[in-house]
Amino acid sequence: MDLLIKNGTIVSGGGEYCADLAVKNGKIAAIGTALPFTAKETVDAAGLYVLPGAVDAHTHLQMPFGGTVSADSYETGTRAAVCGGVTTVFDYAIQRKGKGILETVEERRALSDPVICADLAYHCAITNLGEKSELLDEFKKAADYGVTSFKCFMVYRKEGMMIDDGMLMRIMERAGETGILTNVHAENPDAIDARIAEFAAAGKKTPWYHYLSRPEFVEAEAVKRAIHWARALDAKLYIVHLACAEGVEAVACAKAHGYPIFAETCPQYLEFTRDVYKREDGRNFVCSPPIKGEESRAALWEALARGAIDTVATDHCPFKQAEKDWGKDDFTKIPNGCPGVENLYPYMLGAANSGKISFPLAVRLCAENPAKIFGCAEKGSLTPGKDADIVLYDRHKDFTISVKNMHSGCDQTIWEGIKVKGYPVKTFLRGNLVYDNGEYVGKPGDGRYVKRGESGIL
Ligand code: URP
Ligand code: ZN
Ligand code: ZN
Repeated sequence: MDLLIKNGTIVSGGGEYCADLAVKNGKIAAIGTALPFTAKETVDAAGLYVLPGAVDAHTHLQMPFGGTVSADSYETGTRAAVCGGVTTVFDYAIQRKGKGILETVEERRALSDPVICADLAYHCAITNLGEKSELLDEFKKAADYGVTSFKCFMVYRKEGMMIDDGMLMRIMERAGETGILTNVHAENPDAIDARIAEFAAAGKKTPWYHYLSRPEFVEAEAVKRAIHWARALDAKLYIVHLACAEGVEAVACAKAHGYPIFAETCPQYLEFTRDVYKREDGRNFVCSPPIKGEESRAALWEALARGAIDTVATDHCPFKQAEKDWGKDDFTKIPNGCPGVENLYPYMLGAANSGKISFPLAVRLCAENPAKIFGCAEKGSLTPGKDADIVLYDRHKDFTISVKNMHSGCDQTIWEGIKVKGYPVKTFLRGNLVYDNGEYVGKPGDGRYVKRGESGIL
């Protein structure tokens, strides 16, 4: 064997048990007690939890957006990921007018493949269907290439990224025929534009008005509309960054009727409330959808526990402080997005460690479920035959998050000063140690492109 991890507590989505784990050629070879193997390297994990590497199904790396480019490159974003126990990162390749789906993903892969520090999968965000709707004919090819989920932004009209209902309908129809999962960013653009115009005319420009221009009902309406189309067209649907209580209810109701509808939320919606927009640094929290009120925050936690929400991902899209400062006096100039890829697993495992949720649930939400929903057959659980993406976690190591101890390329974090109970101490990517007690010890290029199978099956 190449590696033996001994005496740890293995956590799966189904439970916790004491066992040893053996790795050969980057794969999990065996799990059991008293394994009859010797290995080139043995790690004593006594007192530690042994977890599958997390799968962050939602990031935006070096993405042109908001008049700049998000602050983490493929290298720094995936480096930060493995230092927080995320071994598979999903990036959104944004298709632009005149570009095909595969062309878009291949252009991004030319940037990412040589430098990634974690394994990387792509969703494609479709922003138009082409002059003759020719993109619809590419769906099957994209699926064969391993890109089996597409995102539709129901907002971002002025950014040229918005999909209207007619396009959404056509995308869902073809996605349904080709086994592709449609992801949506659900907010109502007309309501947002109307509010922004009102606030601009009244000189209301602080970050609090970012929240007021897109409050709970703006998101809830679009969630329900997306579910309506998915049900009508018999398409699978995944709602990204769900942040409002009414949306949770709509998802729960659709699930109860047996529809293949999945939902994701993010740590920022679980930790903070809209009050952050009244803080002096409120602009740093500006993301869309905005962080909502306490009622929604409580509903999201409750939804995790009852299975109404399937995954927790980050929507990692950091911007440097100087860029966030563009909107100091006008919230419409703040690039939308927050960092989080390095905080996802410590935050959710911290919630398990303090008894808010169970460890198996944290593993299902952050690893097993995203791997299953997005067709990553080799990822998401500690099972013989799967990739040896492994995190050793010390429940007793307390950690205070600061931009100084993160590994991202960004110079600010909304998580500054937040304390988590317990922290990852080692991350292995396909059996190779890439993070060790605060230090990144891998090398850029260690990561691989993840070719995915059919999406939308949990
Ligand atoms: O504010 C956000 N969420 N920025 C990233 C793009 C998106 O909407 O997911
Ligand atoms: Zn979004
Ligand atoms: Zn996003």
